[in-house]
Amino acid sequence: MKQLIPILILLIFAGTSMAQQISIIPKPAEMSVKSGSFLLDNNCVLNYDNENTEVSRIATFFSDYLAEVYDVKLATEGSGNKISFKIMSRLNLGKEGYLLKVDKNSVVITASEPSGLFYGMQSLKQLIPAEASNALSIPCIDIKDQPRFAWRGNMLDVGRHFFPVSFIKQYLDILAMYKINTFHWHLTEDQGWRIEIKKYPLLTEISHWRDETRVGHQRDGNEMDGIGYGGFYTQDQCREIVRYAAERYITVVPEIEMPGHSSAALAAYPNLGCTGGPYKVVGEWGVFKDVYCAGKEETFTFLQDVLDEVMDIFPSEFIHVGGDECPKDAWEECEACQKRIADEGLKNEHELQSWLITRMDQYLTSKGRRLIGWDEILEGGLAPQATVMSWRGIKGGIEAAKQHHDVVMSPTTHMYIDYYQSEDKKNEPLAIGGFLPLEKVYSYEPVPEELTSDEAKYILGVQTNLWTEYIATTKKVEYMLLPRLQAEAEVAWTPKELKDFDDFGNRLNEDYKRLEKLGIHFRNHNK
Ligand code: ACM
Ligand code: ZN
Repeated sequence: MKQLIPILILLIFAGTSMAQQISIIPKPAEMSVKSGSFLLDNNCVLNYDNENTEVSRIATFFSDYLAEVYDVKLATEGSGNKISFKIMSRLNLGKEGYLLKVDKNSVVITASEPSGLFYGMQSLKQLIPAEASNALSIPCIDIKDQPRFAWRGNMLDVGRHFFPVSFIKQYLDILAMYKINTFHWHLTEDQGWRIEIKKYPLLTEISHWRDETRVGHQRDGNEMDGIGYGGFYTQDQCREIVRYAAERYITVVPEIEMPGHSSAALAAYPNLGCTGGPYKVVGEWGVFKDVYCAGKEETFTFLQDVLDEVMDIFPSEFIHVGGDECPKDAWEECEACQKRIADEGLKNEHELQSWLITRMDQYLTSKGRRLIGWDEILEGGLAPQATVMSWRGIKGGIEAAKQHHDVVMSPTTHMYIDYYQSEDKKNEPLAIGGFLPLEKVYSYEPVPEELTSDEAKYILGVQTNLWTEYIATTKKVEYMLLPRLQAEAEVAWTPKELKDFDDFGNRLNEDYKRLEKLGIHFRNHNK
């Protein structure tokens, strides 16, 4: 017995360390670790249906990853142990679910759709020890996995600061690692219009460029840097991003802001504002009173023309039209807006905003698309087909779900990753404000208690938002994104009852090693 005890202790430790090796983020719905391991080396054979282009691409993603990151080159034929990617109908795991079975002599990922295979492949990548040297050994395991929510989103604001196509692709790769499936691309702002619209060339001659940018925090003074700043994506580049994202099972939802946050567009087309201008592309941060005139027909011609080109580029079901933070001052003074209010029998400017959004809702619906907007679109009445993105807390989301409208939960309290990650702000890079630690993101429950189980079905999912007023570099984008994105991913994917922050923290420590290997920046939550 005396000799047995150390052996028992050793076995317990071996068991624990085995369990710790499973560091998949987001945590799978069902997992059972078995004994033994699969040795991943140059003798392994990649096995897939090469007539299926999507399956081939996914298998190739995997072999390219192994070659680039671990210098392991899988064979495409031979008698070695097989790594198989298989499509199999009737798995009953939805279109994103998958089975991943690792045994000593084989690895098999099975899914009913390629998207499921892609997610199985992402999990398999995370089973490989990040710091492996010569032998890549994967623990034997059975995983049966599918997401909790259909909308697992992240928004990047490229209006305040512009990031090149090469970085947008890296960003999409990061989203894909954590099974995020919706990239909300915030393309227009007061400080810059970032998408080429062929019918309105001044948007990319004038609206993308600001003469100068606020130095430091908006509240700390009036200093401007005196340096011109701009950039935009051509339509070809946007299509390239849509394709790149689709290959990673990410839908790009473009946002074209209206009626507020439109100073940049008005600078080029001042006739679209209530006063006729002049307007300027602003270099300060905040909410501005220069907004599209809701009284003039030419505003609608412009917005519909823009949306036509946007819909041609982006195949997404949803088109985001903003709708947030639209001061009504100009409308109150504008003859055309007041005439519209009278002609349409509207009570006030809030109803005028609702009327504008409803008109866009009808337009998008007539083209087979769906409108989504920030929760201000509830004010003055929600457009019939609209989906609400709840950001000013969860009240808007609750109200919309109770009206049987779809909702994406994205409250500032838990999902605004432009906020500080530490209370000790002096040791953090400048941020817009707030305090949103990792644990708080992780603790978020997207389905409010106020909803019945029927109403809860309208909660499509969750989304983190990365506004970039104070984020000028790609390095800082990554620092603000990670690891709060991983926390959101687990909120969005993992069954609620499996969430455990300490366990998540342990898995993150392994994830950090992988990020370091890939040269991706992050904020280590242990510091
Ligand atoms: C927002 O943060 N203005 C949607
Ligand atoms: Zn007006």
